[in-house]
Amino acid sequence: MTDSLTGSLADSLTDTIVLPPAQADPVTVTATTVPATLEARDVAAWFGSHQVLSHVSLTMPAGQVTALIGPSGCGKSTFLRTLNRMHEMIPAAALAGEVLFDGEDIYDPSWRLTDARRRIGMVFQKPNPFPAMSIYDNVVAGLRLTGARTGRREKDQLVEESLSRAGLWKEVRDRLRQPGGALSGGQQQRLCIARALAVRPRVLLMDEPCSALDPTSTRRVEETIHELAGEVTVVIVTHNMQQAARVSDQCAFFLAEQGTPGGIVEHGLTDDVFGGPKDQRTADYVAGRFG
Ligand SMILES: Nc1ncnc2c1ncn2[C@@H]1O[C@H](COP(=O)(O)OP(=O)(O)O)[C@@H](O)[C@H]1O
Ligand SMILES: [Mg+2]
Repeated sequence: MTDSLTGSLADSLTDTIVLPPAQADPVTVTATTVPATLEARDVAAWFGSHQVLSHVSLTMPAGQVTALIGPSGCGKSTFLRTLNRMHEMIPAAALAGEVLFDGEDIYDPSWRLTDARRRIGMVFQKPNPFPAMSIYDNVVAGLRLTGARTGRREKDQLVEESLSRAGLWKEVRDRLRQPGGALSGGQQQRLCIARALAVRPRVLLMDEPCSALDPTSTRRVEETIHELAGEVTVVIVTHNMQQAARVSDQCAFFLAEQGTPGGIVEHGLTDDVFGGPKDQRTADYVAGRFG
């Protein structure tokens, strides 16, 4: 107990309330996180001499859902990987431009790779839990990234919190020790979302998270995205126009025209991009005329 609480203040407090014993477990932190704004400025990307992105600038506002749409091969996944420094892991990959996280350049030498990965989580197309590892251990698997020592009780709470936020808790609460690989595809994807959330990222990147899922599981993941919005900034790549319309606040349409690097043709509020696209190429794409 600190000195400040041993004086008269503590005396007056004990008159009216019972102080908890000094050894009581600390109250755990709340489930909510503060979303961050991501801003890409003039991003360009290469694989060897092949330039795949050019002049991509996009602000992904805090707490909103931004959908990246466009035909295959136009650089959506590459762009997503530049947002949490996964692009640089690919041999011969190069990058230009800036990515700002609440105004801080994530490529600044003061940012470690683990800072980027912890603050900016990622969920992939194919659910990739550790199949032999228990559901519980899958959720806490990312904690090693943070370097923080976490007690058993704290882990238990984090597992419940993360699975709840991912919309999976009620389905798995009674079988946390079963292997992650025993879950259905849709549950595995929500387990991966829980694993990503367990390190409390402020941004979550999702690369076609539902493309391997059935319609019911897709709906569950979309509900999860809705519930996360506000707490986490979401950037989602999707080929499903209905999904983009359902889940996103704003939308960016990527295109790579014949032999040129990919870039954003148009971006804006999702209602505007779908309801009244300004560019004919966007209109053709969202109407399903190509791609
Ligand atoms: N690891 C890689 N090595 C070389 N080229 C790649 C690699 N990944 C993607 N590409 C190329 O970069 C371009 C953009 O790919 P990608 O970002 O996956 O597009 P999208 O996600 O929009 O389908 C494509 O021409 C693709 O062939
Ligand atoms: Mg892709």
